[in-house]
Amino acid sequence: MKVLVLGSGGREHALAWKFSKSRLISGLYVAPGNAGTEEIAENLVGLNALDCDAVVATCRDKKIDVVFVGPEEPLAAGLVDRLNEEKIPAFGPHAQAAMLESSKAFAKKFMASHGIPTAQSREFASFPEFEAHMKTRRTRAVVKKSGLAAGKGVLDSDNRDEQLKFGRSVLKTDRLVVEDYLSGTELSLFALCDGVDHLLLPVAADFKKAHDNDLGKNTGGMGAVCPVPSVEARVLEGITREIVEPTFKGLAEQGLAYRGVLYFGLMQTADGPRLLEYNVRFGDPETQVLLPLIESDFGNLVEAVVQGRLKDFPLHLSNNSALGVVVASKGYPDSYKTGIPVRSLPTPHESEGMVFHAGTRLGGDGQIVTAGGRCFTVVGIGPNLLTADMRAYDAVSKVQFDGAWSRKDIGKKFFID
Ligand code: AMP
Ligand code: GLY
Repeated sequence: MKVLVLGSGGREHALAWKFSKSRLISGLYVAPGNAGTEEIAENLVGLNALDCDAVVATCRDKKIDVVFVGPEEPLAAGLVDRLNEEKIPAFGPHAQAAMLESSKAFAKKFMASHGIPTAQSREFASFPEFEAHMKTRRTRAVVKKSGLAAGKGVLDSDNRDEQLKFGRSVLKTDRLVVEDYLSGTELSLFALCDGVDHLLLPVAADFKKAHDNDLGKNTGGMGAVCPVPSVEARVLEGITREIVEPTFKGLAEQGLAYRGVLYFGLMQTADGPRLLEYNVRFGDPETQVLLPLIESDFGNLVEAVVQGRLKDFPLHLSNNSALGVVVASKGYPDSYKTGIPVRSLPTPHESEGMVFHAGTRLGGDGQIVTAGGRCFTVVGIGPNLLTADMRAYDAVSKVQFDGAWSRKDIGKKFFID
């Protein structure tokens, strides 16, 4: 099987690594990839995933059997629709189903039509309407850009001036969603889906805020754990009954055949689970802690998704825990420099950890240099979260480049005494 993975983050390095372990793989390409994927696959640096013609031409040229779409933008832009027309198998939903992520307004309507519990919300298209609503509002609100924003389209400050400023700027180009603030434990649940049947993967959690103790700005994600010890079978049953099942029933009722992975961004509140959002792709950095725990052949699993053979798939999972820490550039999530040489990287044994590249590239002299805000996800693996934590942070201390920093408390809120 020849696979083309689209994307350049830690998620795509983890996907390429997992594919590279599959017995089925006879060719592996990543576009554009990073310095990590370069070591295990062929990077197609010049291929733009938003250029459907170029992706199709590359698939023909390299005789690609499956295209695995990592990020959301090509999905929202209709790449899978085009690949389907060309009879090229793809992992990822078509553009209409991708609206579950690309339009929060569409997602909220979907949730309301299918009785899926979520925060109460209102949508605004004009600033005066939004301003009038905020003036009379008594409860804490989260203000969101309706369209795609790479994790940075949400403001959960309760400072009214900041909310109005954020809303005014979003409304210049997009609609605005204002919803009730929910408190609880945030979870990321992934369901593989082959158009008819689905298969749940272990529950993960992402640490979205820039700084320790969940302070600071929202980021793409500063770390992740999998599985989440506090999610007992009873909790997962509730999430499945109230959120997962109604979602797949709703997709079927609306004629939206979904093939790929659906990501449920959940808040486990005192009143039960609430759905914050759908994403139509794997999460980053959740993928980096999830994939090391899958023991089944990944090529087989992906083939089952794209060929509609997920029913009764014998999914084998490890009993280990994984904890991932993002190492970022100085300044992230605001502006940061790139091109900084990476002086050293740890090389943990695969049974104890992994170093996934994100924003990195190879310089002209073969030196790894930084190329983004989130540069690496360093994963520790062990029989429990504490061991995984120790192994992850031991390796993090060996990632050296000027300005490298990470959160120091990833996973701590889940440690069991
Ligand atoms: P979203 O893009 O909707 O997932 O929002 C990004 C992040 O903002 C989420 O992962 C949460 O951490 C936070 N967030 C979004 N909506 C809410 C809400 N209603 N209550 C509390 N936090 C939220
Ligand atoms: N980790 C959050 C995301 O991928 O959107």
